[in-house]
Amino acid sequence: MTDKITARLSSVEETLFIPLAARARETGKKHPLLHDPKATELVASIDFPIDKYGRGWGSAVMVLRTAVFDTWVRSFLEQHPHGTVVEIGTGLNTRFDRVDNGTVHWFDLDLPDTIALRRRFFIDSARRRTLTASVLDHEWMDQVAASPGPYFFVAEGVLVYLPEDGVRLTLSRLAQRFPDSSVALDTYGHRMMRYQHRRAKAGDIDARWEWACEDPAVLQSTGLRLVESTTIARPPRQLRHRLPLAYRIILPLLHPLMRLTGAFRVTLFHT
Ligand SMILES: C[S@@+](CC[C@H](N)C(=O)[O-])C[C@H]1O[C@@H](n2cnc3c(N)ncnc32)[C@H](O)[C@@H]1O
Repeated sequence: MTDKITARLSSVEETLFIPLAARARETGKKHPLLHDPKATELVASIDFPIDKYGRGWGSAVMVLRTAVFDTWVRSFLEQHPHGTVVEIGTGLNTRFDRVDNGTVHWFDLDLPDTIALRRRFFIDSARRRTLTASVLDHEWMDQVAASPGPYFFVAEGVLVYLPEDGVRLTLSRLAQRFPDSSVALDTYGHRMMRYQHRRAKAGDIDARWEWACEDPAVLQSTGLRLVESTTIARPPRQLRHRLPLAYRIILPLLHPLMRLTGAFRVTLFHT
């Protein structure tokens, strides 16, 4: 216990433990949707109250979100094996370890305290680099632009914590600066945001969502073109056939409700 690393994070940075714990728990299952042994190692190495995070259906759906984004990134890499992927608000995400094809260029971007923690476990290399920045301070785009295109920007579980005008400005900068590239993100409706606020209060989590979006198609006004958008309960076809049984039973029941309420969507855009 004493050898564990202590994390000094702000409340919004601390949310990285939510998907991390979910991926570690999933990895321990008999038939996991996603195998992430690095997440298990990280959870065992950091001193934090894991029981607070990563339980129940919310957690299973979060793992599904990660699996959807993995699927989209893999498809991108099949077409552009030497392209660049940027993981915005990476937390302790391990997507690179899951999808690396040996030639991709990769950036993991996050706030300073998160990156300080991340650096305890991940080492930069010629193809995999870390960016210490807020996604809202756009200078980081200069470093990305010096890497080979096209580009795939993944923002998983991060934009909800940012103000809408900041999200829109960032997306429009990406659209202008990185033509012929992709952006994947998740959105949640207002009802879901109110629910998150109630749950955060009950669960002693300080971070609150700031941005709700019922229909991600509205983001096309930033210059992005919508390619694919679905509720998390109806993941892309490539993924659907390999879902564990529990997911195949529950998700079709959730999908109509989620579609009606704009509860939880994952969306792929092209610039
Ligand atoms: C819920 S976690 C998601 C982490 C990761 N994407 C994953 O799925 O495991 C949210 C992450 O967004 C990061 N974050 C919050 N605001 C940010 C900002 N302005 N710029 C960059 N990262 C930010 C936090 O530090 C945290 O790592």
